[in-house]
Amino acid sequence: DGLGSLTQKKIVITAGPTYEKIDPVRFIGNYSSGKMGFALAEACAAQGAQVTLIAGPVSLSTTHPGIRRIDVESAEEMYQAAVRTFPDSDAAILCAAVADYRPEVQSDEKIKREKTGDITMHLVPNPDIAAALGKMKQAGQRLVGFALETTNEVAHATEKLERKNLDFIVLNSLKDKGAGFRCDTNKVSILEANGKLTEYPVKPKNEVAGDIVEKLASLLK
Ligand code: C5P
Repeated sequence: DGLGSLTQKKIVITAGPTYEKIDPVRFIGNYSSGKMGFALAEACAAQGAQVTLIAGPVSLSTTHPGIRRIDVESAEEMYQAAVRTFPDSDAAILCAAVADYRPEVQSDEKIKREKTGDITMHLVPNPDIAAALGKMKQAGQRLVGFALETTNEVAHATEKLERKNLDFIVLNSLKDKGAGFRCDTNKVSILEANGKLTEYPVKPKNEVAGDIVEKLASLLK
């Protein structure tokens, strides 16, 4: 309607976990529900943005017509979709809990149980999507990341902000009640590239998304 703070803006959002295939029936994954990323997609679309939502395996649906959804499974697929769509975008919000490693070999057949003893699996690193987009970032484009820390939160978040060339990073602490994975609420702080730190109270994820979108919109003006 032309009244939203993100009208005409194109935003890429990654959300959810990634699954790294071991064999046809097994994978390495994590507990990310995708709720925060999906709430961000809805909040951006509500402000008039054209959203590309790159979603890992989640059981969530989107309703807003301003959201185009690309479903992926692995970190490599998520990386390919993000690198393809970012150049034509005004901003990206990297909300996905990307697996850091994947099995070096993905077996075509179901791996059989050994009769005795242990087995080992060799893991290789996945691409860092945020860092890759940080390298691609052009003047005027904005990049937002997330950090989930258990110790030295601000120091670690600052290091990530700089290393990945982010404009701001949303910090959530696992220590806070009502924050993080699988919850409907979250408690975040936003650390900006200029060093400014803003702390927010525990809120429903859709309201947290509103705070993040407001900060992003102010940087895209
Ligand atoms: O380094 P760390 O995984 O803690 O960084 C978290 C941030 O980087 C999040 O925004 C996450 O979505 C992003 N990330 C990514 N690709 C990876 C790992 C993390 O985009 N392979």
